[in-house]
Amino acid sequence: MKKIIIAIDGYSACGKSTTAKMVASRLGYIYIDSGAMYRAVTLYFCDNHISSTNPYQVSQALANIHIQFVHNPKTEKNETYLNGLNVEEEIRKMYISQKVSEVSAVPEVRKAMVYLQQQMGKKRGLVMDGRDIGTCVFPDAELKIFMTADIMVRAQRRQEELLEKNELVDIEEIIKNLQMRDHLDTTRKQNPLRMADDAYLLDNTAITIDEQIEFVINLANSRM
Ligand code: C5P
Repeated sequence: MKKIIIAIDGYSACGKSTTAKMVASRLGYIYIDSGAMYRAVTLYFCDNHISSTNPYQVSQALANIHIQFVHNPKTEKNETYLNGLNVEEEIRKMYISQKVSEVSAVPEVRKAMVYLQQQMGKKRGLVMDGRDIGTCVFPDAELKIFMTADIMVRAQRRQEELLEKNELVDIEEIIKNLQMRDHLDTTRKQNPLRMADDAYLLDNTAITIDEQIEFVINLANSRM
């Protein structure tokens, strides 16, 4: 059977990573969370006081950033490592969510991350989620999905995820953050979030996770 690339793009917190992870596991494919890469870069910028408007600092920082995904057999998750340190929990925190869209709008940051992502897809057999995967990273992906959901449903899901990590955040603050990121992600100059012309729209406001997975798997099977 032919190995394909599945690109899953969409708005913040609409279940892209849950869907992508489960589809990858069903197909025996690699799953890459491209948002985690931008979050790791943002963490580095925060820790090292890098200004995203200073080109010299940005290029120095990018030269010093090494991102890896390492499988944790206990959690059965691919966890994000930044320069050898497990940062999986830290990059999900609210202060990173507040800054990540600013950092990911920097052209040099995008260029570096897109290059790494394209290297990861060379052998195909990959599901990657993000904002520009179907439009920019893998414009030739065999299957492109664009996900969306009602803002309240998205905010509630994100609040539950944060609570599981003992971070209690007010729902209004989460809604504001999602709207702010969607706005910055769709209006930035380089590789803005948009639905590829050949993508399938998946609105998961009122469907179950199993239904979403079946939708994607059926489409994937028809392209192998
Ligand atoms: O997917 P997640 O919400 O973790 O992504 C965090 C942020 O990273 C997004 O809001 C967006 O600013 C940026 N991002 C991006 N391009 C991608 C993936 C994420 O610009 N391919």
